[in-house]
Amino acid sequence: MTAIPLVDLGAQHAAVADEVAEGWQEVLARTAFIGGPQVAAFEREYAEFIGVPHCVAMANGTDAIEIALRALGVAAGDECILPANTFIATAEAVCRAGARPVLVDCADDDTYLIDTEAVGAAVTPRTAAIIPVHLYGQAAPVERLLPLARRTGAWLVEDAAQSQGARRNGSSAGALGDAAATSFYPGKNLGAYGDAGAALTGSADVAARMRMIRDHGSPRKYQHEVVGVNSRLDTLQAVVLSAKLRRLAAWNAARRLAAARYDELLSGCDDVIRPRTLDGNEHVWHLYTVQVPNRDRVLKELHAAGIAAGVHYPVPIHLTTAFAGLGYPEGAFPVTEQAARDLLSLPLFPEITVAQQERVVSVLASAL
Ligand SMILES: Cc1ncc(COP(=O)(O)O)c(C=O)c1O
Repeated sequence: MTAIPLVDLGAQHAAVADEVAEGWQEVLARTAFIGGPQVAAFEREYAEFIGVPHCVAMANGTDAIEIALRALGVAAGDECILPANTFIATAEAVCRAGARPVLVDCADDDTYLIDTEAVGAAVTPRTAAIIPVHLYGQAAPVERLLPLARRTGAWLVEDAAQSQGARRNGSSAGALGDAAATSFYPGKNLGAYGDAGAALTGSADVAARMRMIRDHGSPRKYQHEVVGVNSRLDTLQAVVLSAKLRRLAAWNAARRLAAARYDELLSGCDDVIRPRTLDGNEHVWHLYTVQVPNRDRVLKELHAAGIAAGVHYPVPIHLTTAFAGLGYPEGAFPVTEQAARDLLSLPLFPEITVAQQERVVSVLASAL
């Protein structure tokens, strides 16, 4: 019995190994390990890939959200609206910017994306930003939120950590709002060899503030305008990201094929609710998530068969100990809470084979 991983980073590395080794040799020869021409080149390439004027590379995606918010002026006393169904980093970044996270449920349509109607009801005079999360690889319907943001003076900041290359109505996730943040955590569709991230924006002024905050609040060495952070990208990571970016479109296409194959293989399993893609979306399948009854038992059986299925996310933000202080009771976000109970992420990566997918579905079907 061979194990099937949730993601196969070894296969990805094999594709870029020579290019990365060559690029790293150059960095080692120059012994300049932070910033430099490789980081500037990656920022240009990623901005072009997304179709947005400015990309500011950072040390990780959580910093990128915080810094995007701070660059837009979000501060203490402000509120930011975000979905309860997301990775905890979205809420952490809001707190670190000094603001209060205001949570809303996800839509009850098997997309698990932010409920845009609930956002309208959550807006207050203190709302400084609305943060849709392009979860599992597809864009949230940002166009339904933009008029509200414009009317209320709130910024629209995309959490695009799981959606590199995804499109909505022809535009890239990350280019749909006032600013965006993404993560290049190793398991993401575009992953570094350690932590990395980036913020994106169409505004030169906002980009300049992002650059300043990420580098100790200094536009120039030893000139500190604000209390910033150290969130610069390592040069070695930029080499990896540039090499992988050249293959990202092909890898995303392979993920789409694999997702379509799961759709087909699972079409006969009545107990499985498959993920829905919103009209107008080009999904990049960061995760293929299904709803199943008795999820924890099914997960155990998959693990026992060597299949590394996962759960994204087992505890909604409002039910974590860290965010208990927000005061949302159990039952506050029923769709999110049901997703936390029932969702299961099946192995999916560009190189997954038909035989591997057939085995996943056959073990899943017999567990059900
Ligand atoms: C939706 C979402 N937001 C934010 C982050 C934070 O990114 P990082 O882990 O690079 O800080 C992640 C990934 O981990 C994520 O999946």
